[in-house]
Amino acid sequence: MGGLRIWALCFLLFHELVLCNGDLSYSILEELSRGHVVGNLAKDLGLDAKTLAARNARLDADGGSKRFCELDLRRGALVVSEAADREELCGSQTTCVLKYELVLERPLELHGIVVNVQDINDNPPQFSLNEIKLEIRESADKGTSFFLGEAHDADLGQNAVQGYSLERNSHFSLNVRANSDGGKYAELVLDKELDREKEQQLTLSLSAHDGGDPPRSGSAVIHITVLDANDNSPVFSQSVYRVSLPENAPVGTVVVAVNATDADEGVNGEVTYEFSRLSDKAARLFSLDKISGEIKVAGAIDFEEKSYYEMRVQAKDGLGSASDAKVVVDVTDVNDNSPKIVVKSLMNPFPENVSPGTEVGIINVQDEDSGQNRQVRCFIQEHVPFKLNPSIKNYYSIVTTSDVDRELVSDFNITITATDEGTPPLSSSMTIHLSVSDVNDNPPVFDEQSYSAYVAENNKAGTSICSVTARDPDWRQNGTVLYSLLPSEVNGVPVSSFLSINADTGVIHAVRSFDYEQFRSLKVQVVSRDNGSPPLSSNATVSVFITDENDNSPQILYPAPEGKSLMTEMVPKAALSGSLVSKVIAVDADSGQNAWLSYRIVKSTDPGLFSMGVHSGEIRVQRDISESDSMKQNLVISVRDNGQPPLSATCSVYLLISDNLAEVPELKDMTYEEKSSKLTSYLIIALVSVSTFFLTFIILILAVRFCRRRKPRLLFDGAVAIPSAYLPPNYAEVEGAGTLRSSYNYDAYLTTGSHTSDFKFIRSYNDSTLPAGGTLRKSPDDPFGSSFNEAHGEEVRETSSHFKLI
Ligand SMILES: *[C@@H]1O[C@H](CO)[C@@H](O)[C@H](O)[C@H]1NC(C)=O
Ligand SMILES: *[C@@H]1O[C@H](CO)[C@@H](O)[C@H](O)[C@H]1NC(C)=O
Ligand SMILES: *[C@@H]1O[C@H](CO)[C@@H](O)[C@H](O)[C@H]1NC(C)=O
Repeated sequence: MGGLRIWALCFLLFHELVLCNGDLSYSILEELSRGHVVGNLAKDLGLDAKTLAARNARLDADGGSKRFCELDLRRGALVVSEAADREELCGSQTTCVLKYELVLERPLELHGIVVNVQDINDNPPQFSLNEIKLEIRESADKGTSFFLGEAHDADLGQNAVQGYSLERNSHFSLNVRANSDGGKYAELVLDKELDREKEQQLTLSLSAHDGGDPPRSGSAVIHITVLDANDNSPVFSQSVYRVSLPENAPVGTVVVAVNATDADEGVNGEVTYEFSRLSDKAARLFSLDKISGEIKVAGAIDFEEKSYYEMRVQAKDGLGSASDAKVVVDVTDVNDNSPKIVVKSLMNPFPENVSPGTEVGIINVQDEDSGQNRQVRCFIQEHVPFKLNPSIKNYYSIVTTSDVDRELVSDFNITITATDEGTPPLSSSMTIHLSVSDVNDNPPVFDEQSYSAYVAENNKAGTSICSVTARDPDWRQNGTVLYSLLPSEVNGVPVSSFLSINADTGVIHAVRSFDYEQFRSLKVQVVSRDNGSPPLSSNATVSVFITDENDNSPQILYPAPEGKSLMTEMVPKAALSGSLVSKVIAVDADSGQNAWLSYRIVKSTDPGLFSMGVHSGEIRVQRDISESDSMKQNLVISVRDNGQPPLSATCSVYLLISDNLAEVPELKDMTYEEKSSKLTSYLIIALVSVSTFFLTFIILILAVRFCRRRKPRLLFDGAVAIPSAYLPPNYAEVEGAGTLRSSYNYDAYLTTGSHTSDFKFIRSYNDSTLPAGGTLRKSPDDPFGSSFNEAHGEEVRETSSHFKLI
């Protein structure tokens, strides 16, 4: 059919050319087998097959064309004699033409025959190599293309290579491009980066296909070797290394070994370690081995200082690609701190009168460790009256558990021990010295509740009689004892005029000379008082017993001594021997031996006529009186006491031996004296005048006293207050009035060394203490009526104001 068309074309364009007119054109597909009719020549020439044969038709051909077609004269057709391979015939020429000439004889005719061999898709695309080897560095960027070359297809046009396809994979895609000569070639494009560490080799199959029908394809294998690049940083096995390290771990202890691996090869994979971020403190405490990655202790790890370290370790490979990891070191507590005891406040000293449960101090206990190691128990070791009361947090108060007596224990050493609960536990202790301050809680106590003292009468004023002692265990002034006498009266006279006490020493002195005959004992209350505030006191009784001395001569009551007696005893002439004539009566104010009297006849008119009862004082006739005996007998009798030395008195006894009283007047001469009566008159006059004077004085005194009462006042001195009523009413007026019946001596003195002063009003006691039995005649050296002025040390003798009417 195609042959016809070409023919027609020729005819239309070149019909003037005979030759051209004569050409016959056919088209065949290559590779047709032998016998295949290319074209019906006979018919196309308008002849029949027999004519052709008859005209000896033959086919001439140039060169190689000859072999492929031949003339089938029987059918008058051009047939394929040999399969023609267009590619072999024409290669890559687009038209492949076989040219023949048909020669006819009779007449000679020449027809050109053109056989166009058309391509069929009989060749697959083909790669020059079945294996394409590529080496691609893993660091190759995305989009990089790698030339793969061209596949060749001997066919033409559509039958030639039309495209490529690549096995599905995750890294590459294919890019098909055209050559300048129209050929298509493929490029491998990196779609996704390679990672040598994941895949070192990739094998992909690449195929090329043509456009024939059916299409043919050819393939090749792409072998890609991925080359290493230092694309891997070292990678730590953990991003955070968290370890715990006990504090005080010795230097050199391995804390942790970090480990990083680098997937790269060779130098790219050699990892070294170093700290990348590290506090100064951690830098002193930890060291890192560059090669092994071991972190070791290099200093003293103290939990209390810092319990948490964070550092970063960098791992670097040979080319400097690095990564880092965090290392966290939790330091764990070790019980390495003993508790600390701090005294926060202390009441030192504390008074002894605090009640049990009083807080005397506060302590605080701290332990720098943590957890159990920080739990502290606190206690007091000794057996002391204190305990610890836990209060808020770590505070304890020291409280007393019982009463405290400074006089028993005045200071305490309290050892407080604090123990923590670590294993092993640590403890520390502290000794607190607490002292107890005094409170005046003890009164002075006398050694004895009552004292007895003996003093001989006629003692010197100021003699010490005895001493009392009271003890007060309190401290300083609370225990300083001062003595005083409790004001009282003895026979109406203040006791202070008899006794005084040294406030400091407790020595009791006699203020005056005592007279046994006045009183024999004194009882006084002694007060001991301490100097506390308020003071405490106690008292004791002191009994002073005055012992007798032979200071009184015997007093002869009968007969009147000194020969003043008018009495004359009558002795009957007939008195027999042994009969009682008279009796001398004497007394002695002393007592005991001192008052044991013995009587003796010292002188007698007729010795031997009378005898004396030594102790009875009875005068008896010793022998019968005879006429020859003198009528008047005179005896001088001595009365002597038994004291040491003895004292005596004498008297005269007049005896008249007579039976007749008429004889008595004679005796009047003997005794009566005119002078005597005169003297009596004088005495009476004197007495009357003195009495008048005295009465006037009494009135005066009463008047003054009355005035004083109206303005009472108080005298203060220290703690001692004496109301003015205590003052003797007339002490001022009597000053120097030594002749008064009564007088008062005002006497004030400061007790040595004491802060108190006493007023002592020493009143002469002769007005009030005069014993009722005062008929005794006053002897000149009678202490009665004398007072001792201690302040001036002089003895004031008063004139006796006692008169006796005889
Ligand atoms: C307390 O301790 C001090 C000093 O160690 C010591 O002098 C004192 O006698 C002690 N007191 C007591 C009550 O143990
Ligand atoms: C004496 O006791 C009182 C309390 O009664 C006290 O205040 C004072 O401090 C004590 N004096 C001394 C010296 O201890
Ligand atoms: C003296 O002591 C007794 C007994 O202790 C007491 O009853 C009396 O009141 C005390 N007297 C004075 C004045 O203190």
